[in-house]
Amino acid sequence: MQIDHPFDGLSHTLVPASGPINSKYLFVGESPGFEEDQAVPPRPFIGKSGQEFDRLYLPMALLRRREVRVTNVLPFHPINNRNPTVDEIKFFNHFLQDDIAASKPEFIIPMGYFATRYFLGDVDLGNTHGMLHRNKRYPNVAIIPTYHPAAGLHNTDTQALIAYDFQQIRLALEGKLPERPVDQFP
Ligand code: URA
Repeated sequence: MQIDHPFDGLSHTLVPASGPINSKYLFVGESPGFEEDQAVPPRPFIGKSGQEFDRLYLPMALLRRREVRVTNVLPFHPINNRNPTVDEIKFFNHFLQDDIAASKPEFIIPMGYFATRYFLGDVDLGNTHGMLHRNKRYPNVAIIPTYHPAAGLHNTDTQALIAYDFQQIRLALEGKLPERPVDQFP
């Protein structure tokens, strides 16, 4: 589907969420790449990082791609893979919010810097990844940020961190991951 918008260097092809609408698990990446944008139909996480996600990391959480829902904070491909802008994320926010309202996930897994900050605010991924967070805006949802699967493509140290994060997801699904204590001092 082609969507009219005012942004430069951003594809007009909507890459919608994929996976079962009634899945308990919603994985949220950054923005689609060229392969996701060009696919017929367009689909999130089907390029190189998507293959790592499906074949390497999801199995570490004992999950399969067909049972999880997958989307992005920005559902359009930024040309040359530039970072999404705050204005773009805000402008298209309704796509993600509508999807969360419709799919009612129990677990949201933001993958990477942009998605983690979208759900948890001004935080550092290094201090938050692999832990179970809560946010008043999404009552009864466990939020477990991970490093982005693409970050492991060329860096084996990061690969180990992503693997750790997906093993933490498994523990959370089994009810064995303690919640991160909420800071009482705003
Ligand atoms: N593909 C996606 O759909 N999202 C990402 O963040 C990266 C690759």
